[in-house]
Amino acid sequence: MSGVRSRMRLTVIGIGYLGLTHAVCMADLGHEVLAIDVDHDKIAKAAQGEVPFFEPGLEPLLRKNLETGRLHFTTSYAEVAEFGDVHFLCVGTPEAADGTADLQYVNAAADALAPHLATRCLVVGKSTVPAGTARGLLERIRAGAPAGDQVDLAWNPEFLREGHAVQDTLRPDRFVFGVTSDWAEGLLSEVYDQPLAAGIPGLVMNLETAELVKVSANAFLATKISFINAMADTCEAVGADVVQLAEALAHDERIGGRSLVPGLGFGGGCLPKDIHAFRATAMSLGLTSVVSLLSDVDAINQGRRAQVADMARAAVGGTLAGKRVAVLGAAFKPNSDDVRDSPSLDVCERLTRQGAIVSVHDPMALPNAARVKPALRYAQSVSEAAEGAELVLHLTEWADYRAIDPFALAKVVTQPILIDARCVLDAGLWRSAGWSVRVLGRR
Ligand SMILES: NC(=O)c1ccc[n+]([C@@H]2O[C@H](COP(=O)([O-])OP(=O)(O)OC[C@H]3O[C@@H](n4cnc5c(N)ncnc54)[C@H](O)[C@@H]3O)[C@@H](O)[C@H]2O)c1
Repeated sequence: MSGVRSRMRLTVIGIGYLGLTHAVCMADLGHEVLAIDVDHDKIAKAAQGEVPFFEPGLEPLLRKNLETGRLHFTTSYAEVAEFGDVHFLCVGTPEAADGTADLQYVNAAADALAPHLATRCLVVGKSTVPAGTARGLLERIRAGAPAGDQVDLAWNPEFLREGHAVQDTLRPDRFVFGVTSDWAEGLLSEVYDQPLAAGIPGLVMNLETAELVKVSANAFLATKISFINAMADTCEAVGADVVQLAEALAHDERIGGRSLVPGLGFGGGCLPKDIHAFRATAMSLGLTSVVSLLSDVDAINQGRRAQVADMARAAVGGTLAGKRVAVLGAAFKPNSDDVRDSPSLDVCERLTRQGAIVSVHDPMALPNAARVKPALRYAQSVSEAAEGAELVLHLTEWADYRAIDPFALAKVVTQPILIDARCVLDAGLWRSAGWSVRVLGRR
């Protein structure tokens, strides 16, 4: 981007999906950026211009900003503290065994940074955390930092979607600034001065509200998905069509069409664990109605996976033992190679537990899928996956799959049976090619 009005020195801690995208985009806004990670291999790759995951548009932007000399990588916290006075905390907050958010990486990063903070600075949390985390973290950092109360902390939660991460970072729907001082608000406004000047709203609030905006946004999106999936079940029961229903609902501006997408439900590294963490927080606060709402949303979502496995068993005559099943899609969503809590891989697991021989195709996620589910078979093409299959399952809605020629595919399978668990394939076309087609939410 050109026309930079203020160039700041920023650091980014943790270069996963969120952190690497943030570091690259902040450099693209014209800031000097130094990024750190405990994973030395990731740092070495990023410094060479390599993005260790698939995200459209990110790698060229990384290379461009390495060439400008504005973006640097390190493994030294001393260098990070020395380099900048705004430090973005972007480490993971995965789900702990008891369903709470595991804050060990946030705490470890804070503990590694704090002893090097000798002058006034601002730590900005971007990770998704339960409300109340930031205030405790501020005390923790101040207690460990030579600069003590000179260190301030803000929460600036991230709303990016994998597959659209660059655009979502540079042009989000809004910025949320959880702050305890005008100074912190001023610094954040300076960091994002260009998008703010372009009219993107910047909303200022206290730390707890900012943390909760992110958690409740994810809870709402998950609720919307589970709601339309509950309607999908209703459609099947009464002979209605959930795709037409969703389209008609979406025209109502109070409802809107985004995330009103029926199918196999949500997965990935964010929505499921954030729902579980929110439920755990609600439970500890005695908020029983919140607990029951989130439990229902989660149960509906999990139920979709079981339902597809049941449909698969019924489609091949009541037993999956020894049946060859081709699965289209392994990533938790299209345009990503992320397989964290992938609904597709969950269904694959359910099928193999019942004795099916599952062959999985995905345009981007096969290496990651093979790492977490080494026992599945992986195919480099759709026709290789479908060779000799008695059933084809469409589980991740990559655009490539909408371009499949069902006439050609019918020639390589043993039985032309398709289950479309994402409700986007042209069922009429597949039927005209001789396929027996089942679509979730359509009788
Ligand atoms: N992925 C998304 O789409 C997305 C969107 C919005 C918010 N978030 C939130 O952002 C946070 C990060 O998510 P992610 O998907 O980028 O996770 P990730 O697992 O891809 O990345 C986390 C990174 O932090 C690094 N790390 C761990 N401990 C560290 C330490 N002490 N110092 C430096 N680096 C350390 C890890 O090595 C890893 O590279 C989570 O809280 C997540 O909920 C993610």
